[in-house]
Amino acid sequence: MIFKALRSNIRVDDSTFDDLYPSNIKILGHRHWTPVDVAKMAATYLVQHPNDKILDIGAGAGKFCLVGATCTEGIFYGVEQRESLVEISTEIAQKHQINNVEFIHANIDQITFSDYDAFYFYNSFYENIDTSCPIDNSILPNQELYYSYTEYLRQQLRQLPIGTRIVSYWSGWEEIPTSFDLEHTACRGLLNFWKKII
Ligand SMILES: C[S@@+](CC[C@H](N)C(=O)[O-])C[C@H]1O[C@@H](n2cnc3c(N)ncnc32)[C@H](O)[C@@H]1O
Repeated sequence: MIFKALRSNIRVDDSTFDDLYPSNIKILGHRHWTPVDVAKMAATYLVQHPNDKILDIGAGAGKFCLVGATCTEGIFYGVEQRESLVEISTEIAQKHQINNVEFIHANIDQITFSDYDAFYFYNSFYENIDTSCPIDNSILPNQELYYSYTEYLRQQLRQLPIGTRIVSYWSGWEEIPTSFDLEHTACRGLLNFWKKII
């Protein structure tokens, strides 16, 4: 029902979508998983042509990718360091036959960005410097990791072709290299749409 509604452009609220998850994952939704409406807006901007490859940098329980894959003609890839979350999102995709999505268990620093066309980033590395609402205890906060992952992100983005798009959510602007232009913003500045111009 949820994915059928999304495909028909019928609004799905977050509480309904998050019912797809076990209760311990659902309760993290308000803080860690992208709202459905935000995911739709971001995915629509990122997918410019059918089969464009979109990478979610830190896919969590897969919500952005699952919504994006259902609402657009892109192919969504979610890289996620927590294996348990990759298992949950893969299971949902298989159960609901969402075939244009793949979840990858890896650290972002193992991923080559030039394999993808566009990117989504929901402030994924912040958990290394903020302990107020951890996803679980499997990753210990580490300030050095925050800086090294952010530097990896910036270095990968700098190498991408002109025209590449990235959407950032709840993120600072320092993660995005100056070669990207802010095309527009939404959600009172929390959702930012960037395009590489040089
Ligand atoms: C804020 S959640 C966003 C989840 C998803 N993008 C969404 O919007 O629904 C960030 C996720 O990034 C993952 N993450 C953080 N650092 C990572 C890294 N270095 N490599 C892979 N995943 C990472 C975390 O485990 C967490 O699940």
